[in-house]
Amino acid sequence: MSTADAAGAFSGHASAAAGSPDAAGAAGAGPIGTGQIGTGLGVGIVGGGFMAAVHSRAARAAGARLRGLVSSTPEKSARVAAELGIERGFASLAELLADDAIEVVHVCTPNALHAEQADAIIRAGKHVVCEKPLATSVAVSERLTGAAASAGLTATVPFVYRFHALVREARARVRAGELGRLLSIHGSYLQDWLLTADDDNWRVDAARERPPRAFGDIGSHLVDLTEFITGDRVARVAATTRTFFGSRARTASVDTEDAVAIVLETRGGALGTLLVSQVEAGRKNRLSLEIGGTVESIVFDGEEPETIRIGRRDASLTVPRDPATLVPDAARLCRVPAGHPQGYQDAFNAFVADTYAAVRGADPEGLPRFADGLRAAQVTEAVMDAADTGAWVEVPAADR
Ligand SMILES: NC(=O)c1ccc[n+]([C@@H]2O[C@H](COP(=O)([O-])OP(=O)(O)OC[C@H]3O[C@@H](n4cnc5c(N)ncnc54)[C@H](O)[C@@H]3O)[C@@H](O)[C@H]2O)c1
Repeated sequence: MSTADAAGAFSGHASAAAGSPDAAGAAGAGPIGTGQIGTGLGVGIVGGGFMAAVHSRAARAAGARLRGLVSSTPEKSARVAAELGIERGFASLAELLADDAIEVVHVCTPNALHAEQADAIIRAGKHVVCEKPLATSVAVSERLTGAAASAGLTATVPFVYRFHALVREARARVRAGELGRLLSIHGSYLQDWLLTADDDNWRVDAARERPPRAFGDIGSHLVDLTEFITGDRVARVAATTRTFFGSRARTASVDTEDAVAIVLETRGGALGTLLVSQVEAGRKNRLSLEIGGTVESIVFDGEEPETIRIGRRDASLTVPRDPATLVPDAARLCRVPAGHPQGYQDAFNAFVADTYAAVRGADPEGLPRFADGLRAAQVTEAVMDAADTGAWVEVPAADR
């Protein structure tokens, strides 16, 4: 897109911002501006890998006090706690949960452990951030969602793509009716880190993780974002999966899928296709979503989150992330001025700051809670059923 296109976006968008229903939500939330909403909040982390580091940076940015971490062994807990500047490595989750100074616990462990650990955290009366997928079944996701609600605890799931400013902008445009009637959805989440049979990871092992793998890991983000932006619900799906490598370096027999292709229909009548793959050469974390309506289409690419494309029959344009021109719910997620790129960690920081705001009693716009983790589990289960049976499968109506 040209610079002229971008300039057109500024002048053309002022009225949309004024009319956006998001403006009210953003005004009510407003926690990001402070940047330190979690000041003094005692935080614990479960897990000692990639996401533990991401969560710890976000918790610190929100002003929390990082009181402890527990990983797979006491030695690893102590080592990773020291590396991440966390006060203490605990020997077990039970020991961490017995610490009254810890009010919020982040679960950053392999998927099969989420349910049991989140359940223990809720039982201990602590707020919980549980990595996706919330659980490996709808039934368990339902139970956890109910348990957190009954206990009156804040319980969130890091569907963090929601926290890119331009995702909020896209959502506001759909809500304001600027796209017209929604007709089509075209999305993909592509990675290449499992491209060869030499690549292996705990995620691959069905004995520990149960299928789905690619869809549970990254398809869940794609479906959450699709429903979040469109405000529409996936109504039914047809799907097929492929496991291209029957064995990998340390996994003799691989049952989890490398890729999933989906055809979907929404309750609102839109038609869509999604492709999820962990074996797409040259793609790292390419979450790409195109939503087409009778008037406009919108394209978001998670690897280039500083712009969205607005497609029109007469003249398409590129909208940059600029707090001066975006709707309030998007502008509040801008940490730096336009032209200084924001990315994944910024989105994560915003998600954690909003979670802590919710712990403090606020109701931030668009915060992904356990009910959203349950919704992802419902769609995931329908996709896997569709792939198993070769038939269209209805997705239950979301009760939110
Ligand atoms: N929201 C996102 O954007 C995003 C991105 C990547 C991963 N994830 C999710 O985060 C989770 C963790 O992924 P990761 O990439 O950090 O994996 P990882 O393999 O890097 O880390 C997992 C950690 O859990 C530890 N662990 C294993 N068993 C444990 C136990 N019983 N108690 C405590 N710790 C234990 C391991 O030692 C390891 O340090 C996964 O569920 C994944 O789906 C989310």
